[in-house]
Amino acid sequence: MSELPVVQFRSVTKAYASRALSHVGAKGLITSFPTYLRQGRSAKFVALRDVSFDIARGERFAVIGVNGAGKSTTLALIARVMRPTSGTIETRGHVCPLLELGAGFHPDLSGRENVTLNGVLLGMTKREVRAKTASILDFAGLGTFIDEPLRTYSAGMSARLGFAVAVHLDPDILLVDEILAVGDASFQKKCLDRINEFHKRGVTFVMVSHDSNMVRTTCDRAVLLNGGSVHMCDRADRVVDEYHRLLEQPRVAPAPTVEQKPSEGKACLTQS
Ligand SMILES: Nc1ncnc2c1ncn2[C@@H]1O[C@H](COP(=O)(O)OP(=O)(O)OP(=O)(O)O)[C@@H](O)[C@H]1O
Ligand SMILES: [Mg+2]
Repeated sequence: MSELPVVQFRSVTKAYASRALSHVGAKGLITSFPTYLRQGRSAKFVALRDVSFDIARGERFAVIGVNGAGKSTTLALIARVMRPTSGTIETRGHVCPLLELGAGFHPDLSGRENVTLNGVLLGMTKREVRAKTASILDFAGLGTFIDEPLRTYSAGMSARLGFAVAVHLDPDILLVDEILAVGDASFQKKCLDRINEFHKRGVTFVMVSHDSNMVRTTCDRAVLLNGGSVHMCDRADRVVDEYHRLLEQPRVAPAPTVEQKPSEGKACLTQS
């Protein structure tokens, strides 16, 4: 009997409480306001619609798509930072999310102090953090900056620190949203080496990236989201090719709203 998937999305829909008028701009405000009132201010914005896919243990899996396609929403749902509106998500094992640059960091604390804070927030005991601090700082490679307040760090430096903590967490499932993109080439290589090391140990890696080359070379499989629905889920290289084909089309679908007719959600299950 084959092993159960470590991440299982079944017909997942995520509707956010109305983006209401926040995205329409000043001009749109005039035309959208009556609709907003008619809908009783309760209109929902559907970021994901009927999304199904599986991720197997040890897979390197990418979630790709244009801005607003629903990638970060997907990762946040896996991390249980939020709940789906309908459908189910099952995960097996310790999920370690690296969703936002500097999430859980305090700007006034030094890099060293933030390592302790972040490590504890992500589930390590203080004793564990202490034992791993030297190795975390070595991975981050921030030199004397490590004792400077975090607010003096560049985006890439914060990302280095966040990733350094994450790779010392002993996760079963590591989620990474775009963070690798801000590291320099040598740090990216270090991260990719560590991801491959994790892979050998059977850790599952789920990443969101706009770097097609990285997805192609690092991931086994990928799901392509378009307008909040699964457009394709297959081998990473095939999905990246399809993504580029889609981008060449005159218009890529925007994320649907609840008022629109539900699109057919295509299921994507782990190849057996
Ligand atoms: N808290 C929220 N409230 C309302 N709408 C939201 C919220 N968060 C996200 N959205 C909307 O849901 C859609 C999907 O957002 P999401 O952040 O998942 O996209 P993404 O694929 O990660 O985009 P990007 O490539 O820009 O990071 C977008 O249209 C976004 O405007
Ligand atoms: Mg995103």
